[in-house]
Amino acid sequence: MKHTDIIDILKNKSDYIGREVTVCGWVRTSRDSKNIAFLEINDGTTLPHLQIVIDKSAIPDTAQLMPLSTSVAVTGTCVLGVKNADTVEINAKSVTLIGASPLEYPIQKKGHSLEFLRTIPHLRVRTNTFNAMFRLRSKLSEAIHRYFAERNYIYVNTPIITGSDCEGAGEIFKVTSIGFSQDYKTEAEYNEADFFGQAAGLTVSGQLEGEVMACAFGKIYTFGPTFRAENSNTARHAAEFWQIEPEVAFAELDDIIEIATEMIKYIVRFVLETCPDELALFERFYEKGLREKLQSVVDSEFARVDYTEAIEILKKSGREFQYPVEWGCDLQTEHERYLTDVMYERPVFVVNYPKALKSFYMKQNADGKTVAATDLLVPGVGEIIGCSEREADYEKLLAAIESRGMKMSDYENYLDLRRFGSVPHSGFGLGLERMLMYLTGIGNIRDTTIYPRAKGDLK
Ligand code: 4AD
Ligand code: MG
Repeated sequence: MKHTDIIDILKNKSDYIGREVTVCGWVRTSRDSKNIAFLEINDGTTLPHLQIVIDKSAIPDTAQLMPLSTSVAVTGTCVLGVKNADTVEINAKSVTLIGASPLEYPIQKKGHSLEFLRTIPHLRVRTNTFNAMFRLRSKLSEAIHRYFAERNYIYVNTPIITGSDCEGAGEIFKVTSIGFSQDYKTEAEYNEADFFGQAAGLTVSGQLEGEVMACAFGKIYTFGPTFRAENSNTARHAAEFWQIEPEVAFAELDDIIEIATEMIKYIVRFVLETCPDELALFERFYEKGLREKLQSVVDSEFARVDYTEAIEILKKSGREFQYPVEWGCDLQTEHERYLTDVMYERPVFVVNYPKALKSFYMKQNADGKTVAATDLLVPGVGEIIGCSEREADYEKLLAAIESRGMKMSDYENYLDLRRFGSVPHSGFGLGLERMLMYLTGIGNIRDTTIYPRAKGDLK
């Protein structure tokens, strides 16, 4: 069906005025009066709807077009908006009903709650909020690819099925082709009989493979789905989420912090420039001052604080935290919130965490207690980036693997990188959905993705 994208008409008004076009879309609002009927249709290419004006003396049968989400094809002439000359509308010559939408269509009014909309994920994408969310998600992904492509990074696709747990947190979903049965006496025997002849799982991170590629290509990034069987049913945790993981050879912690900062600023600027309508919607309905916040991310320095100092700040805050603060404790949401929302009011890198809190691969600092790792925390969301310099010393890495009781044979390739031309290298992981929460002010990760996967939730 030959037709014009609504975004082209709205963006290039002067080219279209007076021209006849065909557009297709779904009815988003409708009004039927005695002589004229109005449809506002949306084809998903842009947030604003296109108004269709129907002269009922020429097209009398309008009642069937009125129900919300009816799909139509309209041919007519583009004219300046009668009420608002900044916009374009179509004086219809013909309107074809493509698919009727009976009154059972569940979104009959504006302002349904996000909770309700989560029960109809296949239809919520036709609402303004999700129209904005998914275009912004697409633009954000575009920005990320552009950022790296402009800087000579290689885009790498790492495997989704793996045999090792990168983060060592035991949050792996099992991958199997056979059901457990009494035929197997032990788990080891069962795993051996399974598809890969060993236990396999869905990747929690592409980092280990990313390091392999960085040690050949210098600068690489992954951008793909990762999976965590985390038992935390929070607004910020998903069982399936997308991670962007750059890995850079010849880079130490300060270098990668600089790269992370530059990348965040780049993608925020890109979204500010390319998604003005979408950001205006999120600012209106979800977060006051959103655009000003994002502009200040672009314009101002990110804060940086040592973990040890952050603990002191929290202790001196005078706050009664639910989880007590002591050196060595993991930062809980309430602690992160204090740092981002009260203390710094902007993104902050917390640097040099206690060794015991972090993964085996992180570079051990000279103090023997901490590792060269940092999390980037942002107001309202908390951690959006996990980042570190990697341990490049063979012996130290070996010791870290051994002391954690990890299976050495899973990490032989990884250790080899430290045997053959080892280099200082660093990387980070940005959670795409967490970034979307920050960019939109949407408070629940389930509203940043089509079909959210979370504990007990698989629609
Ligand atoms: O801090 P994480 O666990 O770091 C890694 O996976 C490293 N291998 C990254 C690297 O250095 N290459 O996860 C990185 C980011 C987090 O900061 C967060 O934004 C996101 O991934 N993330 C989640 N997002 C949604 N739901 C979850 N359950 C998430 N777990 C992590
Ligand atoms: Mg982390």
